[in-house]
Amino acid sequence: MHAPEATSGLFRMSVTERLNLSRIAVLEKVSFDRQMRLLRASEAGINFARSDYKDVYAFFQEASKDYDSDLVNPYWAFTHDILKFILMKFITEHFRDARTTHVFDAGAGTGNWSRFVLSLGVSMHGIMFDMNANMLRVAKPKLVQVHNNVRIVEGNLEVLSDFPSQRSNLVLCMHNVIGLGRNTELILHNLCTYLEDDGLAFIMAMNKYHAFNFTRQFRDETEVLRVVHDGTVKFKTDMPEIFCYTPEEFEKILRDAGFEDVTILGFPVTVYPSIQDTKLLRMDTSILQLKDSKVRAGLLALEKKLCLYPELAYRGGSSLIAVCKKKIVAST
Ligand SMILES: C[S@@+](CC[C@H](N)C(=O)[O-])C[C@H]1O[C@@H](n2cnc3c(N)ncnc32)[C@H](O)[C@@H]1O
Repeated sequence: MHAPEATSGLFRMSVTERLNLSRIAVLEKVSFDRQMRLLRASEAGINFARSDYKDVYAFFQEASKDYDSDLVNPYWAFTHDILKFILMKFITEHFRDARTTHVFDAGAGTGNWSRFVLSLGVSMHGIMFDMNANMLRVAKPKLVQVHNNVRIVEGNLEVLSDFPSQRSNLVLCMHNVIGLGRNTELILHNLCTYLEDDGLAFIMAMNKYHAFNFTRQFRDETEVLRVVHDGTVKFKTDMPEIFCYTPEEFEKILRDAGFEDVTILGFPVTVYPSIQDTKLLRMDTSILQLKDSKVRAGLLALEKKLCLYPELAYRGGSSLIAVCKKKIVAST
C-alpha cells in the first residue's frame, strides 16, 4: 500500500471501475496503523514542548490578515464545498421541524462558517464566539451580509462562565479550534453542556493519519515523531502545535465529554493537499484536477457520496468532522 496521494487515483476511478473501496480502505488503514505503531515503539521517551494560549493568541493576531486566502485557494475552496454539503445535509434533516435555530460558532475566527450557516434559513440567531480580537474584527463586516440576528462575543471556550447565558441548539466548531485549544477535553465538555437537549453540533479536528502522512512527505523526522509521540502536528515551524486524532480517538474524547450520538466523517478522499496549500498565503495549488472546472465538478459529485462513509474518514486530507446529536432527556 502507498500513501493517500498515491491511492487517491483509485478512489477517483471507483465510480467507473467499480472498485471495492472498503477493501482498499481497510488495507490502507491497517498499514498506517502498523507504521505509526512501529515508530512509536522504536523512539520511546521523546518530549515536545507545548505552546500556551499566549502563543495561540499571537499566532492568530498575525494570521487574521491572510486567513481568508483559503477562500480562493483551489484545494481549500474544494474542501469548503464538501463541508458546505455536509453542513447543509445534516442541518436540513435535523431542523426540518422549522424551530428557531440558535447558532453558536465556537472559535468563529473570521466568521465564514457563521455567514454560511446563517444564510441557510430565516429563523436563525447567531453568536460568533472567539478569544481573538483581530479574527473577530475581520468577521464583523460579514455580519451585514447576513439577514439574521447575530452578535459577537469575545471569550475562552475553556471558561464556561464566558459562554452566553442562553444555550444554543446548533453548535459549530469548525477547523482547528479544539486542536489549538490547550485543554481540548474541557472545551468539548463545555460545548456539550452548553448545547441544548435535542441539539446538533459539528466539531472538527485534525486527522492524525493526514498529519502523519503529510509530515512524512513534507517535514522532517522530528515532526513525524511529534505526531506519533505527542499526538500533535506542526505543518510549519512558526505555528503552535495542533492536537490531532484518529477517527476512533476523536470519537472517544467526544463520548467522554458527554456526546452520545457521534458520527465521524472525513474529507476530501479523492485529492490530497500539496505543500502549497499549507502556506498562509495559499493562493494556488498544484492539484491540476481542481483547476479544470469539468473535472472538479465530477470530483465534487463523487466526494459528496464518499464523505458520508465513516470508514473512509481516515483519508480526510483536510480534517475530520464529528456530527454529534444530543439526546432529549426524558423528564421524570
Ligand atoms: C483555525 S481558526 C478557525 C476559525 C473558524 N472556525 C474557521 O473555520 O474558519 C481557530 C480559531 O479558534 C480560536 N480559538 C482557539 N482556542 C480558543 C479558545 N480556547 N477559546 C476561544 N477561541 C479559541 C482562535 O482564536 C481562532 O480564531
